[in-house]
Amino acid sequence: MTAQIERPAEANTLTEPEAQRCLPDPGVDTSSVPFRMADGVHIPAERYYDQGFADLENEKMWLRTWQWAARLEDLPRVGDYIEYTIVGESVMVVRVDEDTLKVYQNVCPHRATRLAQDCGTFGGGQIVCPFHGWRWNLDGSQSMLYGRRGFVPESVDPAKMALKEVRHEVRYGFVWITFDDDAPSLDEFFGEMDEYLAPVAMERMRFRWWKYTVLPANWKVALEAFMEAYHVMQAHPELALGATGEAYNADAVPYFPRGMGHVDSTAPALPDSAFVLTESPVEGMGFGEWFLSQNQVLFEGTDATNTVRDELIADRVRGKNLPDEELLPAFFQEYYAYAQDAGIPLPPPDPKATSYAFLFPNLVMLGMPGNLLYYRVRPNGTDANSCVFEVFAMQIPITGEEQAPARPEGPIAPEDWPFVLRQDFENILRQQDGYRSRAFSEATMSPRYETMIYTMHNEIDKYIAR
Ligand code: FES
Ligand SMILES: [Fe+2]
Repeated sequence: MTAQIERPAEANTLTEPEAQRCLPDPGVDTSSVPFRMADGVHIPAERYYDQGFADLENEKMWLRTWQWAARLEDLPRVGDYIEYTIVGESVMVVRVDEDTLKVYQNVCPHRATRLAQDCGTFGGGQIVCPFHGWRWNLDGSQSMLYGRRGFVPESVDPAKMALKEVRHEVRYGFVWITFDDDAPSLDEFFGEMDEYLAPVAMERMRFRWWKYTVLPANWKVALEAFMEAYHVMQAHPELALGATGEAYNADAVPYFPRGMGHVDSTAPALPDSAFVLTESPVEGMGFGEWFLSQNQVLFEGTDATNTVRDELIADRVRGKNLPDEELLPAFFQEYYAYAQDAGIPLPPPDPKATSYAFLFPNLVMLGMPGNLLYYRVRPNGTDANSCVFEVFAMQIPITGEEQAPARPEGPIAPEDWPFVLRQDFENILRQQDGYRSRAFSEATMSPRYETMIYTMHNEIDKYIAR
């Protein structure tokens, strides 16, 4: 789909297609799914706390979908490994040689010891079980079985003792895995989203920081706080720049109505952008002034979507006293000129490069050219009511600047995060409690403002129904 999102001519009513766009896909029968999505408006509360529903998600969605397990640059040397865990399963991403990565089930076939923990390097090209010392080559074949003579030969047949591989593909600098050998290729999984993601050049990015917290909330409650801008007016007064109620226009941010979605907030600088945020949500404020002001709050409140270098450029532009419509073009002109002088290999401006995207099932990214803030949320083990919430900032560094491999820092208590994130975490905790209230049975969603949330749930039901 490449058309701009449909906006009603009469500002305040939903158009018919808009009202219907959150309906489940009629091509997939989801009638067997408990607490299923049905009417395109409501989300049953049980989806946010029922352990039976979480078990279905764990088994049928998490173990079948694609998800990213490691960054390529964090596995620079032969033997480097990174562990990734999801719903009780653990895998290890291993660098086998300069050109080859493999992903293995992280479990010893002898007596189930986890072979890798967190990250590190398998020295001497050998993966060694810490319990009884069985060994494997980096390619997964067994190299040594201590005391083989004491085992029934057929039970320790070397072919059976090789490490079990997990399917993976590399894209955008991320190593993506799936436990499902029948899952569609990553190409099919991303589909047309690739057109919007590829020009972002995520493979050139490196971590600026990476932190996590553990929240007593369902993973979807946590993620959904970052899948709509409808909450900005009330939850983030600083981001709303003082505008309250309808003076902060909820309609200013259009959403893409599918399982993956994006909105492009930097594209107005380009003449033929497909998806654009064209008006300032703040009543009486020009788009240019709003853009620079909101970015400044994001800089202070997240230390991620915008960084010192972005603020430096914004200050230069502010100092020129330009009319509002010239602010944005001037900003981006300075932005790219600065990058060129500093040796920062920004990708060329592209009207399709997204600056806000949801990648099913659990990754949200937002930012500026060359600079992104990511959220990744996973269930904490298999618990319906606990999640691991990671936040990380990435940036395209100056060419040749080396960085040590990154690992997440934490858990960091919700009150110790920058203020915009703190505001979000507080609401997440209140919501999780509220979803369990006897007085609450279903969330009432806006097909216009909360589209991406609704379509994520529809997507989950498709996995469960399969
Ligand atoms: S459990 Fe791994 S060698 Fe025994
Ligand atoms: Fe927020």
